[in-house]
Amino acid sequence: MIVAGSGLVTNSRKKREICRRTKPLWDLRGGLVVAIALLFSGCGGQRSALDPAGIAAERVADLYWWMVAGAAVIWALMIFLTVYAVRARRRAENEGNGKWLIIGGGVVLPVVVLTALLVHGLAMLPDFTAPAPTGSLKITIHGKQWWWRVRYEAAGNQLIEMANELRLPVNEPVEFRLESYDVNHSFWIPPLGGKLDLIPGRVTRLALKPTRTGVFQGACAEYCGLSHALMSFSVVILEKDEFNRWLANQAQPAQPVADAEAARGQEVFFGKACNACHTIRGHAINGMPALSAIGPDLTHVGSRVSIAAGALPNNPDAIRRWIRHTKFIKPGTLMPAFADLPEEDLRALAVYLKNLQ
Ligand code: CUA
Repeated sequence: MIVAGSGLVTNSRKKREICRRTKPLWDLRGGLVVAIALLFSGCGGQRSALDPAGIAAERVADLYWWMVAGAAVIWALMIFLTVYAVRARRRAENEGNGKWLIIGGGVVLPVVVLTALLVHGLAMLPDFTAPAPTGSLKITIHGKQWWWRVRYEAAGNQLIEMANELRLPVNEPVEFRLESYDVNHSFWIPPLGGKLDLIPGRVTRLALKPTRTGVFQGACAEYCGLSHALMSFSVVILEKDEFNRWLANQAQPAQPVADAEAARGQEVFFGKACNACHTIRGHAINGMPALSAIGPDLTHVGSRVSIAAGALPNNPDAIRRWIRHTKFIKPGTLMPAFADLPEEDLRALAVYLKNLQ
């Protein structure tokens, strides 16, 4: 009995021992799986440079994957050499072989690989900075605090202006003219390509060509101030016909007010002098049109994907929240908060703005 008992004790001790040894290994493997899953979850989505929707981004993504594959090969080689060095039986080596291994692996290989990468990378640059062909769509982007004014250069000098949203035709080159008055930004649409700085006092140009339809996200890629992280923009890539219809609609003045609540909202808009900062083409009260270039053009604000540069969705609830709490939602914004606006007025104002499709 005693012998059997001590055998049991020894067995359970052994099991505990094995568990202790294997558990950290399983933890490690589990952690590795989670890390890899997290790593690759970043490869897709509306703002991924590794899920390209434009020629420039495709070429950068190709280069990236070649570099990842090359780094993986070199890493595997180094691990092999390390294991070999630790495990191999010690024996006399020819000094000449060792010297050639160091020169070949430590000098020649890095010089060849890095030079090839540099030459390939530099050769890609002229294509990215070359102007778009004559007759291409031209869009001016003004970087503001903290949003993007988007102005389309359309036939007949029509003013077509958006805020924090771009719509582009697929497979058509587009040229962006980038400007800023008082702050540096960096214009970046990761799935399309870029990025390029907006510098006060200078005009920079960027040509891109989208290759598939969809809704994507752009961002400011340079720390520019309080609301740097709150100036994203939507990029909607459409078929050419659909894009032309959309552009023709954007060129139209705002729709007439639809009902009594929207009409009240319009009165609030002019009564609170929102027209001192915002344009709504086609709307006026007592001969006072809404024509100002301080804030975003709101002629078709109701049709946009989001408001406040991606900070809020575009619906009457969110519009009300924005007007009440501008500084809270976007620190540093120039738009004042209308905290004491009566609730009914605010509700009507949100309906009026959302109806501007
Ligand atoms: Cu604009 Cu960061």
